[in-house]
Amino acid sequence: MRVVLLGAPGAGKGTQCKYIAARYDLLHLSSGDILRRGRAEDTELGKQAQSYMDSGALVPDELIVEMMIDEIGKAPKGGFVLDGFPRTVNQAAELDKSLAEHGQTIDAVVNLKAGDEVVIKRITGRRSCPKCGAVYHIESLKPKVEGICDHDRAGLVQRPDDTVDVVRNRLRNYCEQTAPLVDYYRQKNNLHQLDADADAEIVREALFEKLDALVR
Ligand code: AP5
Repeated sequence: MRVVLLGAPGAGKGTQCKYIAARYDLLHLSSGDILRRGRAEDTELGKQAQSYMDSGALVPDELIVEMMIDEIGKAPKGGFVLDGFPRTVNQAAELDKSLAEHGQTIDAVVNLKAGDEVVIKRITGRRSCPKCGAVYHIESLKPKVEGICDHDRAGLVQRPDDTVDVVRNRLRNYCEQTAPLVDYYRQKNNLHQLDADADAEIVREALFEKLDALVR
């Protein structure tokens, strides 16, 4: 199965993709995580992406498309779930073109719909582990010991682009550049809409219901 999760910053794409990948045995590919890994490892791509990411702007398509198509090419036969890619109509068209070359298409696109104030609260309260990447929230998903990762005891950190000002910029860019993808996929008849304001477990169950119907 090949799945795309759409949604504003903080809608819960990363959280839900982990559940989807585990349930359907898919490779979870997060463009943001791949870029952050590149930054941590000081790769050329990581350096080029840095200023865009810190200001909340999208990294140019020509850097992202090649990186993601390369990663998708490594996915096992079972398929993948994409988190944060595509993010422009041009990226979506390039993805479709590349899949078509292998006789493949996207099976389902799920748009997680969450309100601006909800996502701002989620993002500014997000903390993550720099060692294993586990994601927490200061209110809705607390670690056992405040500020410490449950898995490896590393100190939790806040992403540099998770401040209120940068989040507002990310939301503006989402509306202008990414929201048009909803229409793009609606026209392809594989779009599913989901209310993502609810608790993560409720969203997860609604998502499973939709995707279970596809694998039955
Ligand atoms: P990226 O890392 O993709 O960030 P994003 O899309 O802004 O998404 P987030 O990771 O902030 O949110 P999420 O929806 O995954 O939420 P999460 O599940 O963590 O991109 C970062 C940057 O990289 C971009 O700004 C851009 O510069 C660049 N980039 C990446 N891809 C690109 C592309 N394709 N093209 C160009 N540039 C690109 O949840 C957030 C918090 O809320 C967590 O603490 C979680 O525990 C909590 N939470 C989640 N769901 C719920 C719930 N239902 N109820 C309560 N709390 C919840």
